[in-house]
Amino acid sequence: MKKKIAVLPGDGVGPEVMEQTLKVLDAISERYDHQFNYVFADIGAVAIENHGQPLPPSTLDKCLEADGILLGATGNPYFDHRPELDMRPEQGLLQLRQNLELHASLRPVVSYPGLYHLSPLKVERLKNIDILIVRELSGGIYYGPQGKTEAGAYDTCQYNEYQIERVARIAFEQAQQRRKKLTLVDKSNVLATSKLWRSLVQKMGKSYPDVQLDFQYIDNAAMQIMQWPQQFDVILTTNLFGDMLSDEASVLAGSMGLIPSASYGAQTALFEPIHGSFPQATGEDVANPMGAILSSSLMLDHFGMPKEAKIIRYIVTHLLDKGIGTPDLQMETSFSCSQLGDMIAYLIAEEEVINLSSFELHEKVSTII
Ligand code: IPM
Ligand code: MN
Repeated sequence: MKKKIAVLPGDGVGPEVMEQTLKVLDAISERYDHQFNYVFADIGAVAIENHGQPLPPSTLDKCLEADGILLGATGNPYFDHRPELDMRPEQGLLQLRQNLELHASLRPVVSYPGLYHLSPLKVERLKNIDILIVRELSGGIYYGPQGKTEAGAYDTCQYNEYQIERVARIAFEQAQQRRKKLTLVDKSNVLATSKLWRSLVQKMGKSYPDVQLDFQYIDNAAMQIMQWPQQFDVILTTNLFGDMLSDEASVLAGSMGLIPSASYGAQTALFEPIHGSFPQATGEDVANPMGAILSSSLMLDHFGMPKEAKIIRYIVTHLLDKGIGTPDLQMETSFSCSQLGDMIAYLIAEEEVINLSSFELHEKVSTII
């Protein structure tokens, strides 16, 4: 297959993890005879520096023309300490999501036995965790009217029925393909938008009788996800709650550096690790490239290449089982970001090095599309 991929390395460790991801995709294209055509573009702080804006129109055009978008990270501490500046690197990502109407971000979180030692939780709470967070991505308080007043500032959370129903549909469908359980996380004891979410999702539940539907308030869910994570299959939630819950849930996997995401909407889909630009590690070759590499496997699923996608997930899981990882995983021996990229690319090329007989058993990251 021939695919055009917009590659947006972005800021901080973004370019480093992206480099590893492309090594892996090159190995896939070589082995399975695909042609991936990479089109590079700037986003975030690097785009502000080169083009005077976080999402230059040329970047958006390249994304619109591509079959899939890979993004590294956006953010730079220079801007964190200057809240008075109008422009921020993250706006590049937010504008991209808005322009592409990426309304659903799917964030799978699984636990890896090889990484139980990283978790503050007891081992029995970690076994067999397999959660898919479906985060609404192009509405809510991220995009409502906001501003400063004389005495303060305000943000507004707004949702309309269409925005809620389109992402809820995705969540129900994902639940149908998985363990058939859906938990809506909201704050409907307080917020008007949450009340609307709850009533619409309740109504929609009638069309999905095979899906067991339940509801939790966000404060309770934030506790439950640590207390009893195995209860969750698919979690559906709003933009802001989903942002918070996905960082929290990454503790179950062992590291933020492991969590991929796939964002779908009206236009090209976008694939990015959920970790940020990790400025302290920039240029050190220590960042974990697995979140970015797993994001590319979600893109391959989206391209209709399930075998290729699975092999990446299998190899990542296998390496973690064998105690191989970057410093954030605190294994006995740590490998660098580029060494891991090399290793995964090599294992794809030399697939027979790994015993594939237990392939299905080791399948840990759910196929989500
Ligand atoms: C994420 C990130 C972004 C968000 C930032 C970088 C704007 O934290 O994708 O989770 O808040 O959505
Ligand atoms: Mn986040």
